Parts: sequence; structure tokens; C-alpha cells
Amino acid sequence: MRGRQATPTAAGAGRWRGATAWWWLAAVVLGHLLTCARAGLLETNPGLAYNFYAKTCPNAESIVRSVTRQMVAGNAALPARLLRLHFHDCFVNGCDASILLDVANSEKTAGPNLSVGGYEVIDAIKTQLEQTCPGVVSCADIVALAARDAVSVQFPSSLWQVETGRRDGSVSLASNTGALPSPSAGFAGLLQSFSNRGLNLTDLVALSGAHTIGVASCSSVTSRLYNGNATALDPLLDSAYAQTLMSTCPNPSTSKAGTTVNLDGTTPAKFDSTYYTNVQRKQGTLASDAALMSNAQAAQMVADLANPIKFYAAFSMSMKKMGRIDVLTGTKGQIRKQCRQVGS
Ligand code: HEM
Repeated sequence: MRGRQATPTAAGAGRWRGATAWWWLAAVVLGHLLTCARAGLLETNPGLAYNFYAKTCPNAESIVRSVTRQMVAGNAALPARLLRLHFHDCFVNGCDASILLDVANSEKTAGPNLSVGGYEVIDAIKTQLEQTCPGVVSCADIVALAARDAVSVQFPSSLWQVETGRRDGSVSLASNTGALPSPSAGFAGLLQSFSNRGLNLTDLVALSGAHTIGVASCSSVTSRLYNGNATALDPLLDSAYAQTLMSTCPNPSTSKAGTTVNLDGTTPAKFDSTYYTNVQRKQGTLASDAALMSNAQAAQMVADLANPIKFYAAFSMSMKKMGRIDVLTGTKGQIRKQCRQVGS
């Protein structure tokens, strides 16, 4: 009797254990999904892929890399220029190479883009690619790959992975460049312009680390140093560092146009995490760099990303997200033959 009863009880217990195990597994999977969603890893794939040109133009990525490396070897300012070019492309109308177009009132002609450069690298790469695989590789992908390859010159391998398969847009309007964050924006304004592009606080702090290389015009910093012609230091700026900036950018009325200061005053040419150490010491060059310390959560991230391993990991992840902003894929957009002209 006992034996007969034991069988259904054991079966019930087994079913119960089975159901519990399923619930437990479901909870673990759900927890993992939520963690990923919070980390921004579950964005729907917009139709991009790694090595998109593997079949259609197998040498595409090696051509981009070799032309970029060659040109960077002759001009150390290019990694910063190309990185900023990619950012300014993606934030305005998505990563669609609209910044490259030479048309009346194009994005290029707008104030924030006047100091953007690197266009000649994109042209040189495109010329080579058109000889090898005509009409296949988009200008938008070239911009994304060249930024990665230029910055990675300092490293044994690529610093981040780039998805490809973007196509080129045909609209480029100076009036759309309001989507770019202003260097004088406060923390809330910066976060807002990032969230308008689907990026979050982590992305804002990680991508600001791009200011570990490159330069800013005196006109981008003088409002932190002077009020009119009188010295008036931004309280968020370290006074010794302010003196360094003032020696390069004297009184605004006597500053020579085209004079620049390093964005990272400590290791200006190295793509490292020193930017965050500088920001913690009130030695961020732009007001937008200093603004990261005005929010407790952002300030904690600044402290974390001073660790280079954490910085490279966070930067890679956020670059991937930035590279997906409003991309044109599949049958949308076009593949330009010349990056400066629509439909050619
Ligand atoms: C957080 C908001 C940001 C603001 C307000 C901002 C603003 C600026 C400004 C004002 C300059 C100097 C321009 C000049 O005076 O000529 C600059 C330079 C630069 N920015 Fe940003 N930026 C931001 C985010 C980013 C991001 C997300 C990236 C790339 C992922 C980036 C990459 C660069 C680079 C590399 C330079 C140096 C360019 C060169 O040396 O030619 N910036 N940025």
C-alpha cells in the first residue's frame, strides 16, 4: 500500500521540483535580460552585422585600415579628427555620412562643424574602395571604420568592434546640427541631447572619454577664463590648470584665431583613461567635461572609468550604440560613389 502510494507522491514531488526548476530558470533568464536591458545590450539590431562586406568586398576593412594607418602616420591629429567626425555624423540625422555632403547649407557649414576635419581621409579610402569594389561600401561605414582604425593605431589590435552595413543618406542640413551637445551645456542639457539619440548616462560618461585626445579652439574655453576682457575663472576649473589654458589663450580679444589647447592636458596624444583623472581634479578642458562632476551618479562613473580596463570596455560598448543611431540599412539610402555628393 505504502509502496503504491509512494509512487504518485514521488511523481507529484518530482513534478513540483520540475516546475520550481522551470520558474527558477525563468527568473534567472528574466533577471539576466533585465540586466542586459539596463546595460543597453538588447537594442534591436538595426540590420548591421560584423564583417558585412565579407562576400561583396572581402578586402574592404583591410583597405580602410591600411589607408587610415598610412595617413595617420603622416598626421598625428587625425585620430581625434576622425573620432569626432563619426560622433558628429551619428548625432545629426543618424550615422549616414550626411556630414560629408558638400551642398548649400549642409551640416558642414554649421558652427559646431567648422572645426571638424578628416574628410580627406574618407575621400582617399573611398577612392581606393571604388577601384576594388565599385558601389559597394558606404561612406557611413567608412567613417565608422576609419574612426576605430585611427584611434587603434596606438594599440596591438582594434580598440572596439564596428558593425557595418550602414547606407548613405541624402539630406544634410545645417539646421539639424542643433542635435549636437553644446560645450557650455550643463549636465542636464548634455544628458538630454544624449537621450534624444537613444543614449544614456553611461554612454555620456564613457563617450566623453573621447576627449582624452585632440584639441579645442580657444573660443571653446575662453568663457571659462574671462568675462569680456577681465579674468573670471569658472569655479569648476582648477586655478593652476586655468593658468596653463590662459597662457595659450590670452585675453579673448588678442587670441589668434586657430589657436588650440589640448583636451587632455596630461597625456594629450594617448588614448587612455587620464581624461577621467583630469576631470576629477577639475582639469577637464571644456565646461561639458567639468559638468560630469555636478551629478553624483556621473561623478561615480568618472571615478570608475579612471581605471583603463573599465574605460576601454565602457567606451567600446557605447561606441557600438552610437554607431547604430538611426542607421539606414537594407534597401534604404544609397551607396555613394563619391562621399561628398548624393547619388554620384
Ligand atoms: C558630451 C558632449 C560633447 C561636447 C559638448 C563636445 C564638445 C566638443 C568641443 C567644443 C570640442 C572642441 C572643438 C573646437 O573648439 O574646435 C570637441 C572636440 C573633440 N570631441 Fe567632443 N564633445 C562631446 C562629446 C564627444 C564625443 C561623444 C566624442 C566622440 C565619441 C567626441 C570627440 C571629440 C574629439 C576627438 C575632439 C577633438 C577633435 C580634434 O582634435 O580635432 N566628443 N568636442
